[in-house]
Amino acid sequence: MSSLLINIDKLIQTDEGNVRYRSGKEMMNLNSVTNAFLLIENERIADYGRMQDLTEKTKSQAGEIIDVSGKMVLPAFCDSHTHLVYAGSREIEYIDKIRGLSYEEIAKRGGGINNSAKLLSETSEEELFEQSAKRVEEIMFKGTGAVEIKSGYGLNTENELKMLRVIKRIRETYPLEVKSSFLGAHSIPPEYKNRRTDYVDLVINEMIPVIAAEELADFIDVFCDKGFFTPEDTARILMAGIKYGMQGKIHANELGFSGGIQTGVHYEALSVDHLEYTGEEEMDALKNSSTMPTLLPGASFFLGMPWAPARKMIDYGLPVALASDFNPGSSPSGDMKFIASLGCIKLKMLPEEVINAVTINSAYAMGLEHIAGSVTKGKLANLIITKKIPGIEYIPYAFTTDIIDDVLIKGLSVRRPL
Ligand code: NIG
Ligand code: FE
Repeated sequence: MSSLLINIDKLIQTDEGNVRYRSGKEMMNLNSVTNAFLLIENERIADYGRMQDLTEKTKSQAGEIIDVSGKMVLPAFCDSHTHLVYAGSREIEYIDKIRGLSYEEIAKRGGGINNSAKLLSETSEEELFEQSAKRVEEIMFKGTGAVEIKSGYGLNTENELKMLRVIKRIRETYPLEVKSSFLGAHSIPPEYKNRRTDYVDLVINEMIPVIAAEELADFIDVFCDKGFFTPEDTARILMAGIKYGMQGKIHANELGFSGGIQTGVHYEALSVDHLEYTGEEEMDALKNSSTMPTLLPGASFFLGMPWAPARKMIDYGLPVALASDFNPGSSPSGDMKFIASLGCIKLKMLPEEVINAVTINSAYAMGLEHIAGSVTKGKLANLIITKKIPGIEYIPYAFTTDIIDDVLIKGLSVRRPL
C-alpha cells in the first residue's frame, strides 16, 4: 500500500533523522522543502524531496497519487501530556472558578481530582472506554498523531487498573501512537486524609507491582506540588517505578516552587511538566540534563494562573515541549493547534519554536522521537495536510480557524476514511 503526495507547497519539519529534540536558539530551526513530494509506503514515510527530483519510477510505483497543490504538509502533533481517560465532566467547578474559588480551594471542598475519582469509580470500564474514545477521535481529527495518556483518577488499585486497561484498549483500537503513564500519586484520596505516607506506601507496594506485571504503564508520574505530594514522596515513587522499568515523567511546579523539577532531574525523568513556577535554580537543574521541560499553557489559560516562563527558558538554552494536559479539571481540551496559539500569544514563543515544541520536542517527551515528530524517512506517516495558507505563521495566528484539510495517521486519512 503506497501513496504519493505531489505538489506540496511547503513540506515542513523535514529532518534526516539526527535530531532528537531542539533546545535554545536551535528551536528557531525548522527545515522545509518548497514544492515537494512525499512517498508513503507501509504506514511510513518512504521518501520525500523536491518535485523536480521526483522520478518517473517513483511515480509509477505509487498506488495512489494525491495532488495537494497550494497546501502545506507538516508532522502530526505530538501531545505528550494528557489525562483524556476520565468519567463525566466538571463544569460545576468551572462555575465555582468563575465565581472566584481557586483550584486548591475547589480541591479542598471535595472537588477536583477526587471528584473525578468518585465519578470514575461509578463508571464501568466499557462506559469509560466509550467516553474516552470520543475524545481520542476528536484529537485525531484535530491533528494529533501521538499521545500520552495518564491514569490518576482511580486512586485505588482496582480503578487505576481500570483506567490503564482503557488506555491499552485505546492503543489497540486506534491508529495513533499511545504511551501510558501510571499516576497513582495524583491526589490523596479521602480515605487517606492525613495519612499521605500510607497512601504513598500503597502506590509503591501494591499498585506498581501489579501494573508492572500486566505491563500497563510506560512511565511513572507524581503530582509533586504544594498540597499534593512532596519531593520525598516523589523520590520514593520514582525509585520504585524505575525498578520496574518505568521512567519518570512528572507534574511539577504548577502551584509553587515545589522542588519537583530538581527531583525529576535527579531521577532522570524523561520530562517535568507544568513548570509555571520556574526560576534560575530550576533552570540550572534542567540545563545539561536529558529531562524535557514541558509546558501546558491550556491549564494556565483555563485556571487563570501564571504562565510558565517559556521565553526565559529558551533564552537560557533549554528545550521546551508543549502539550495539552487534556483533563476535566484544568484543561478540558486536547486541541494542540490552540496550544500552539497560546505558546505564541501567551508564552511569547515564535511560530518556529512552537512548531518544534508540538512536534519533535513533544515526541521526545514521550519517548517517540525515533518514529514521530518530524518528516523523516522511516518515521510513521503521521501528517497534517493544511488548507491553502499563506505561511506556517498562519497556523498559530488563526487561532480558531480549522486550517487542516486532512490528517494522515500511519498513512491513512482520519478525515476522509475509506
Ligand atoms: O495536570 N495538576 C494535576 N493534574 C491535572 C489536573 C487534573 C484535574 O484537575 O482533574 C493537571 O492539571
Ligand atoms: Fe496533568
